[in-house]
Amino acid sequence: MGRMLGGAVIRTFAQSDVELFAQYSGIPTINALTDDEHPCQILADLQTIKEKLGGYAGPEDLFVGDGACNVARSWIWAAARCGFELAIAAPVNYQPDAAAAKGRGQRQRLVTADPEEAARGADVLYTDVWVSMGKEEEAAFRVAQLAGYQINRKLVAAAPGALVMHCLPAYREKEITDEIFEEHARTIFDEAENRLHAQKAVLWMLSER
Ligand code: NVA
Repeated sequence: MGRMLGGAVIRTFAQSDVELFAQYSGIPTINALTDDEHPCQILADLQTIKEKLGGYAGPEDLFVGDGACNVARSWIWAAARCGFELAIAAPVNYQPDAAAAKGRGQRQRLVTADPEEAARGADVLYTDVWVSMGKEEEAAFRVAQLAGYQINRKLVAAAPGALVMHCLPAYREKEITDEIFEEHARTIFDEAENRLHAQKAVLWMLSER
């Protein structure tokens, strides 16, 4: 494939599959989601934050939910790279492991089990599905474990005026309530549209190599 293609976009489970493909194919390889990372999503999120808040180096962000999932892990990477404050509120068993945080800089304020405490002063409230792709067999268990880690009226009240973001698809009344989703649908769908623009930028950048 390295000889036939100009580049590849891979969505799969094992991060090592993407890295091996990139290493042996020698062509630009875009990670379109693995169990460990979701960088294209985070590029679109940063674009959205920049559009709505004027920049992404200043705002304090709170990720609430499955803090060990690919999206949370890519947020850790982005916080270190761009220098913003990130808190992750998740039950102990769903907090990012030391490897995810290793070498990612000093600015991560907090990994906590208390979402409301972490929400105070946040500029962005962000969540993702509780049951990521490949975890379907754990669905009932995860929903029970993550039940308190929802973006709802109470959490939004702790961070008045904060952007509410979601990488989609959303499961209403699970990680976000229906009413909060609807109130922030404009932001969330701008964020979804920015997946298109951010990924076009990635393709353009790689085509310039
Ligand atoms: N964490 C989610 C992201 C969905 C875009 C998953 O891996 O399914």
